[in-house]
Amino acid sequence: MKKATMILDRDFAIGLIDPRIYGSFIEHLGRAVYGGIYEPGHPTADENGFRRDVLHMVRELGVPVVRYPGGNFVSGFNWEDSVGPREMRPHRLDLAWSTTETNEVGLHEFVRWAKEANSQVMYAINLGTRGTDAAREVVEYANHKGGTRLSDLRVKNGAKEPLDIRLWCLGNEMDGPWQIGHKTAVEYGRTANEAAKVMKWVDPTIEVVACGSSARDMPTYGEWEYRMLDECYENIDYVSMHRYYGNRDNDTPAFLARSMDMECFIREVAAICDAVGAKKHSTKKLGLSFDEWNVWYHSNEQDQQLVKADRWGRALPLLEDVYNFEDALLVGSMLITFLRNADRLKMACMAQLVNVIAPIMTRTGGGVWAQTIYWPLMQASRFGRGTALRPVVESPVYSCKDFDAVPVLDATAVLGEDGAVTLFAVNRDLTEDVLLEVDMRAFGTLRPVEHSVLHHDDVKAVNTEAAPDTVKPMPGEPANIDNGRLTVRIPALSWNVIRLEKA
Ligand code: AHR
Repeated sequence: MKKATMILDRDFAIGLIDPRIYGSFIEHLGRAVYGGIYEPGHPTADENGFRRDVLHMVRELGVPVVRYPGGNFVSGFNWEDSVGPREMRPHRLDLAWSTTETNEVGLHEFVRWAKEANSQVMYAINLGTRGTDAAREVVEYANHKGGTRLSDLRVKNGAKEPLDIRLWCLGNEMDGPWQIGHKTAVEYGRTANEAAKVMKWVDPTIEVVACGSSARDMPTYGEWEYRMLDECYENIDYVSMHRYYGNRDNDTPAFLARSMDMECFIREVAAICDAVGAKKHSTKKLGLSFDEWNVWYHSNEQDQQLVKADRWGRALPLLEDVYNFEDALLVGSMLITFLRNADRLKMACMAQLVNVIAPIMTRTGGGVWAQTIYWPLMQASRFGRGTALRPVVESPVYSCKDFDAVPVLDATAVLGEDGAVTLFAVNRDLTEDVLLEVDMRAFGTLRPVEHSVLHHDDVKAVNTEAAPDTVKPMPGEPANIDNGRLTVRIPALSWNVIRLEKA
């Protein structure tokens, strides 16, 4: 058995964890909305057509913030189409996904749903085909109390009180040539600056997120951040980051090491933000919003066939990745990476929430079930709140095609407000368990209350509607603590949550 050690001290803290790092994302894409959260006529549908069974699972997941309505979709979207009487709302071609959008679910319906889900909305505006004018108008419609044409229109459309949207994304992936209205960094930076400026004139209490690069391997990455921030630094609050990984070469050790790429990405973008801040002699520190992240590759080929067969179809089952066990392990490591960067990372949205590259799957007219990746997100959201600790971890390493020294044990720890300590750990080794010894004498008397393990002998195992519990957390070998020294066995290829409470 391999060995790893960790030293924890309550005084060695990274910072307070912003619960919004456990956010998610719903785009008008595929069956995320229609057939996902919304399905009038489904046996569990409420009076507004939203599926109660899905809502229940979203609540269980614990999603403090939901990005909406896109994604690529938003760059061709007119927010006005999505408000007012449903029968008057236009059907439109969605050029981003080659489908037809009916606007049956719109701004008011989604805000109501998000409230029921205990989530706040992070609303993305269209900076692809639109600009400053639409940006200020939608903020006025949503957040102004009344007495103006747009705020009174909201009241007329059924919302007497403001929708109170606090978080706004300034467009989506504007660095990407695939984006409707793709821009250069300077063009985008200027547009984002003006939009942010007037949006905050309408409502000074909002926070806005500017688009960083859509991936770390974009040719413009780095330069994009620097140049666009040079244009909008003082008017924005966060920079977005997006990243998806896939195991296309079926190389599990390399796949599980991809969270190291994410770690580099976070540190690099933070450094660029600070470089621009320094150049401007600014005292302001920007936060990071990792508002699209996940594994995404399983469905790529199928999607091309679907669109070929039914171009302009409605609610096609697009991006329906069926996640396997190794995907859940990488998701676990990505969450650990977020915790390690809790001082800078203030928001993150797993992309996405239901059906579309999602932890929650539904069958239209049928059941709902948790994909493998549901579990690490759910457990991190539930137990990863409080202060992110800065552990000193010594682990054996391995090398893979991208990195020379990948820690076999990827682990971190969180101190809860009640004094409870939770360890999160992924063992990346394919065959060997790791005996983890943790020196946590600084915390006084703690008692282990749970060791939960997510493991399956087959890395390609998946959950389905018929077999939803194939991959799910199970009790692990109990941890032992003796005089503040904890020992616990971390099984080969596993995601672990080890919880200790004050004795
Ligand atoms: O989440 C799916 C898509 O991925 C989003 O629409 C886009 O922003 C990204 O490229």
